[in-house]
Amino acid sequence: MSQIAPHGGSLVNRIAEGAERETLLKEANGLSRITINNWAISDLDLIGVGAFSPLTGFLNEEDYLSVVNTMRLANGLVWSIPVTLAVEEAKANTLNIGERAALIGEDGITYGIIAIDCIYSVDQKAEALHVFKTDDLEHPGVKKLMERSSTYVGGEITVLNRPQPEKFQEFYYDPAQTRQIFAQKGWNTVVGFQTRNPVHRAHEYIQKTAMEIVDALFLNPLVGETKSDDVPANVRMKSYLALLENYYPADRVFLGVFPAAMRYAGPREAIFHALVRKNYGCSHFIVGRDHAGVGDYYGTYEAQELLKSIPAEDLGITPLYFEHSFFCTICGNMATSKTCPHDKSAHLTLSGTKVRALLRDGVCPPPEFSRPEVAKILIEGMSEQPVG
Ligand code: ADX
Repeated sequence: MSQIAPHGGSLVNRIAEGAERETLLKEANGLSRITINNWAISDLDLIGVGAFSPLTGFLNEEDYLSVVNTMRLANGLVWSIPVTLAVEEAKANTLNIGERAALIGEDGITYGIIAIDCIYSVDQKAEALHVFKTDDLEHPGVKKLMERSSTYVGGEITVLNRPQPEKFQEFYYDPAQTRQIFAQKGWNTVVGFQTRNPVHRAHEYIQKTAMEIVDALFLNPLVGETKSDDVPANVRMKSYLALLENYYPADRVFLGVFPAAMRYAGPREAIFHALVRKNYGCSHFIVGRDHAGVGDYYGTYEAQELLKSIPAEDLGITPLYFEHSFFCTICGNMATSKTCPHDKSAHLTLSGTKVRALLRDGVCPPPEFSRPEVAKILIEGMSEQPVG
């Protein structure tokens, strides 16, 4: 069986190397400069390495409107999240269509070049209502969107410098690398797992249930920007390693990070997450309860319903859907309403707030909720974090 094709058919590679890179770096010195924040750097890099294939740059107006309104690129390919470059209006007024501009980080590093093919203003409220299904500024994704300029610059990019992670560098793999690794290991079917949280027993249960029917698990935690009350990526990484070491078969799991920012766009982000994992070489993708959700903006199974509305051939990757899972004290195991007949009172469920309070007080949540090795690392991590 051949490996799943990237979205759109081929893996994008817009990373300049060697002599070409040297030439472009010299060119960049003479170009207009657009300052980009860490979020934009991460988008730029993910476009460059092909994680966002078929995107070859930040969306132009035609693709942007098509994605916002129809969840498809102008060429008809499914794409649910607008990946855009917001530029302050005053800066945008100095730029011209057809011009090339240097993309400079706040650290002064030239991360890339954009060939500007479009400069356009957008209705951010409409974008929020379509993408996030709300324009409530309390929603972290909407808040981020509204804080940006409403002038976007579209065009193909080339990456000249890659962002350098401070820690856990060995878990950063580009899609071309994960594809090669999965093939070398002889894995035909690989299920991708997105998470922005520590892996608790419910996550472990759905991962292992999926592992029963595929060759391997690609544990692919998102480590880009998240909201401040999510557990920091460095703490989570330690907890994943402890979990894998103690509870997973080493030859059937691969851990690699997904260095993207979290959008909290619920159903739309579930589609995006699935397509990106297809680019990394996954044949299957887990979607459980309230995937990529926040607060109560989305229904528990809304992400699953939206994914189900997309024709299988348009998605390519196969979603594996899981119901809300929990530990049942009568069954004595993890279960969902599909497998457990008992009343809710027998189910152990802890809210995120409750778990955080326990961890902050140095108390391990019950082992039916979280593995003790994971809880220990989270407690240590909490004590290193500023309160609030
Ligand atoms: S997410 O924002 O990255 O989706 P989280 O890390 O909590 O958040 O979830 C990772 C994946 O596990 C998602 O597919 C989510 O739907 C699923 N999930 C989380 N908790 C449960 C649960 N108790 N039961 C079933 N699925 C769950």
